Amino acid sequence: MAGDFADRLLGWYDRSARVLPWRIAPNSGGVPDPYRIWLAEVMLQQTTVAAVAGYFMRFTTRWPTVADLAAADDADVMAAWAGLGYYARARNLLACARAVVRDHRGRFPDSETALRELPGIGDYTAASVAAIAFGRAAVVVDANIERVIARHRLIETPLPMAKREIRAVLAPLVPEGRPGDFAQALMDLGATICTPRGPACAICPVMSDCRARGRTDIERLPVKPPKRAKPHRYGVAHWIEQGGRVWLVRRPDKGMLGGMRALPGGEWTDRPRSGSEPSESAIVSVDHGFTHFDLTLVLVRREVSPEAPGAAAEGEWWPISDLDAAGLPTLYRKLTDRMLEKLV
Ligand code: ADE
Repeated sequence: MAGDFADRLLGWYDRSARVLPWRIAPNSGGVPDPYRIWLAEVMLQQTTVAAVAGYFMRFTTRWPTVADLAAADDADVMAAWAGLGYYARARNLLACARAVVRDHRGRFPDSETALRELPGIGDYTAASVAAIAFGRAAVVVDANIERVIARHRLIETPLPMAKREIRAVLAPLVPEGRPGDFAQALMDLGATICTPRGPACAICPVMSDCRARGRTDIERLPVKPPKRAKPHRYGVAHWIEQGGRVWLVRRPDKGMLGGMRALPGGEWTDRPRSGSEPSESAIVSVDHGFTHFDLTLVLVRREVSPEAPGAAAEGEWWPISDLDAAGLPTLYRKLTDRMLEKLV
């Protein structure tokens, strides 16, 4: 039964694997590059394949090896990551590349346990890199795989509690010979057939013994935890302009959007600010959803004083015509895009 599941899945993967820039096509005889596999897996956490592909190509063109990435400037890597979100991942990415060069002579360790010791490598990344780059029989579980298994075995336990059951189901199914392809086949199945909405059960390679097959409530699986209301926060950002340039700061390394370039501004608070200071006029406002809260950020014009550029935060005058190159995270990108529409 276990072998049979893997055989059906891998047979389908051999015919239908997605062509992805970091992937070695099944049965092509290609040898995976652990650096590329690791980079892709870190980028793909909480982000879609479609969003990652361009970033992956730019990163690997600019930094073709882990040693190249380790030697890069922090600011360049943060700017290249801009738009992918979860910026702590980019800081950990650099820390990990440097640890691989410093402690492992530029070669990624090949076991799940040793990978797990590296900065930013958690259970998921350690397992996926061990399986895909090194052919280790690791149990890889991401959101797509959770959905496939929860449906196939009709697991009614809500996430995240169901994770243990899912791992227990999966462990004996992992084939010794092709653990990396097995994990990627499940990911592809989840992304293309066993989709959250409207799964294409009729063409599913593991349909015959799927316990959720034919159920009208299949989309309910995996059962999600009850949704908590997201808090709403408010903030003000400052547009300080001089001679065709705008004042940009770098956010502190710790905390939200840590280490990223940003427009200057005040703390984000739980209440909208009341009234406005005379020197300010709100120009544009954007709403942005973070994982744990939603933010409304308004942009106000500020003259060079009183909170002088150069005073508190470290920053730089950035040419307004070249804001694309500043590597602003999406939140600030939305604000500056709206602002530029106003300026023309
Ligand atoms: N999502 C995360 N890792 C992936 C991979 N290696 N292939 C396809 N989708 C993925």
